[in-house]
This record gives sequence, structure tokens and C-alpha cells, in this order.
Amino acid sequence: LVASMEDVEETYIMVKPDGVQRGLVGEMISRFEKKGFKLTGLKLFQCPQELAEEHYKDLKSKSFFPKLISYITSGPVVCMAWEGVGVVASARKLIGATNPLQAEPGTIRGDLAVQTGRNVIHGSDSPDNGKREIVIPFLCNKNILSVYDYSRFLI
Ligand code: PPS
Repeated sequence: LVASMEDVEETYIMVKPDGVQRGLVGEMISRFEKKGFKLTGLKLFQCPQELAEEHYKDLKSKSFFPKLISYITSGPVVCMAWEGVGVVASARKLIGATNPLQAEPGTIRGDLAVQTGRNVIHGSDSPDNGKREIVIPFLCNKNILSVYDYSRFLI
């Protein structure tokens, strides 16, 4: 059966600071491309604290919230919008479990990460959150990093 346009979703994928610093951006983009999804937005971005807090607002009461915010704001992230049929759930499968030690081999976290607090990538957990999360970095015109600026973060 061929999918209709109504089945097309969008999700927000963010390569976290450790993924950027470890040079894993291309590897991660490649997995979504090879699966067949379409990249519709891409931005290298130093996330301001208030936007990180807005993005993770549902987790405000969690004990790990301050750590999570300082992790996400610790260096540049790569913000992406990806489009496709079933992309929200499929991206979560490609990413794997939150705790990388429980993530299956073959998933991004299963192959590339060890700790929950350094789990290299984020993917929206629902189509509604996908729509909500995409606009947070893409409507912000502060802190856009050019390739030249980014080189300052390399050792
Ligand atoms: S919860 O408690 O079930 O709502 O949390 P969970 O769905 O497992 O994770 C939500 C996001 O919080 C991150 N997380 C953490 N970060 C740092 N330290 C600890 N201990 C921690 N536990 C969870 C987790 O990676 C999720 O972020 P994203 O970016 O969505 O992966």
C-alpha cells in the first residue's frame, strides 16, 4: 500500500554537544538518510539556556534537569528537522533506548554511546512534540555558528 501525504510526519532530531565534539554528526545524518527520510532543516547552534529549558520543559521537576540543561548548553548542537512517513517512531528506533547501555547494537546510542547523560542525540517522542520542538531553534536567530566559528571549539 502506498502511503498518503497525511501519513507524512516531521520530527526534531538534535545531535547533542558530545556527538558534535566527537565528530559523529555525519555518521548520524547518514543513518537517517539511508533509512529514506528527508532532511528539511539543519542548523549548527549554541543553545541558549532559556531555549534548552523550553525544549525540555516537561522535565522541569526531574532531579537531573539542571545537569541535562548544562549538558545541552555545554557546546554546539546540530538541530535538524526530518520528514517522512512514520518518521517520529522510526527515528526513536534508530536512536535506541535512553540509556545507551540498554540500547540495542545497531542503534545510534547502542553503537556510539555509553552514558545516559552523554547519549549523543535527541529525537521527539510524538508528532505533537516534533512540531513543538522544531520551532524552538529554527525561530531563534541568536547564536548561529558558521563553520569558521565552529572551528574554535575544536582542540
Ligand atoms: S523520564 O524520567 O522517563 O521522563 O525521562 P526519560 O524519558 O528517560 O528521558 C527524558 C530526557 O532526559 C534525559 N535524561 C537524563 N539526562 C541526564 N541525566 C540523567 N540522569 C537523565 N535521565 C534522563 C534523557 O536523555 C532524555 O533526553 P532526550 O534528549 O529526549 O534523549
